[in-house]
Amino acid sequence: MKFDCLKLSDFEIRDKKVLLRLDINSPMDLKTNRILDSSRILAAKPSLDALRDARVVVMAHQSRPGKGDFTSLQPHADLLKSVCSQPVRFVEDVIGPSAKTAIGETGRGEVLVLDNVRLCSEENLEDKGEKLAKTNLVSRLAPLFDLYVNDAFASAHRSQASMVGFPQVLPSAAGLLLEKELGALSQLLGEPNRPSTYLLGGAKVEDKVPVIENILATGKADRVLVGGNVGKVFLKAAGRKFGESDESWMTDAADQVQNARSMLSKYGDRIILPVDFGALSEGKRREVAVANIANTTGNLMDIGSETSKVFADTIRSSKTVVASGPMGVFEQTGFESGTKLVLEAMASSNAFTVIGGGHLAGYASMLRIAERFSHVSTAGGAMLSMLAGEELPAIDALQEASARYRERRKAA
Ligand code: 3PG
Ligand code: MG
Repeated sequence: MKFDCLKLSDFEIRDKKVLLRLDINSPMDLKTNRILDSSRILAAKPSLDALRDARVVVMAHQSRPGKGDFTSLQPHADLLKSVCSQPVRFVEDVIGPSAKTAIGETGRGEVLVLDNVRLCSEENLEDKGEKLAKTNLVSRLAPLFDLYVNDAFASAHRSQASMVGFPQVLPSAAGLLLEKELGALSQLLGEPNRPSTYLLGGAKVEDKVPVIENILATGKADRVLVGGNVGKVFLKAAGRKFGESDESWMTDAADQVQNARSMLSKYGDRIILPVDFGALSEGKRREVAVANIANTTGNLMDIGSETSKVFADTIRSSKTVVASGPMGVFEQTGFESGTKLVLEAMASSNAFTVIGGGHLAGYASMLRIAERFSHVSTAGGAMLSMLAGEELPAIDALQEASARYRERRKAA
């Protein structure tokens, strides 16, 4: 995959009105409306610094309509104030008159943050850029800008108006974070150093299972370690019975269980399943062997100590390790050890190590080991889509916009 996008340094940005798409979607404390992990906000600093002589308007989302953490971007704007040197203002509007006025008033060296772009219903549709360029979101706002900059790598797998519509109609550039992510992750697109190990966990099973299929089929992964709900789905596919609460959500994930079953029959020798779990039982952690999970009353909240050892040993004998998604509910005391041990094994290895996904990356920074990985991606789903060799709509849109811009320049 070749990435040929115009960069910030290709444009004269002084005094220019720049629409900067960021991904500052963050875990929130629902009671206090506080941002729990500010990694994605900190990661926006290089582009904001590079744009210090421009008039910057930030467009971003938080969660999705209908979810508890679908909030305004006021707290994000407040945190951005402490991250960048420019004054930051927030406007509680996206495409209405207040937004337009505030955009018009944004002066050189200032940053304006628009409200959650997903408040605009058009943003919640995925479609082709040509079509999304005709939405009100794009057609009302684009004329107010000189340049569109996409620095939202963590959303690059979404074909939404803010990602693919604006590049149709505005000169467009890749932001510095997006450039850095593409540079680091593209090292994994060629032949990996072997053995190469993928560690996949977390709750978003539907995001992970297709990626596992892909990395096994293409031979990218010599071994795949599965934890979290992903691990449970594979064990279910292998014929294991679980307690009531796990059986119940897995009934809804029947398609994924079926996919996992077919992978086990094709590539079973490369998939390493958990052999035990840490269960919450009477307020305490108890180790439960896989043979006994059907009869346990406690919730399975972490991979067990034997599994952690097997996973950590596999990591230590690898030359490439990619991880996304935690091994369990590490936020809960007593259930952090599985995730902690695999992260520590990665941090102390000499392999090329990459972690992604808000939870895992956030936990690595809490453990103060984030700088010991070769790359910590701000993205989860987008990173995995890229590593699985899928097209990223936002990157395609930037490349096409860059080609059009160069053509126009040549013709002029
Ligand atoms: C993410 O956190 O995965 C990105 O911000 C994209 O959000 P989404 O999965 O709700 O589209
Ligand atoms: Mg996501």
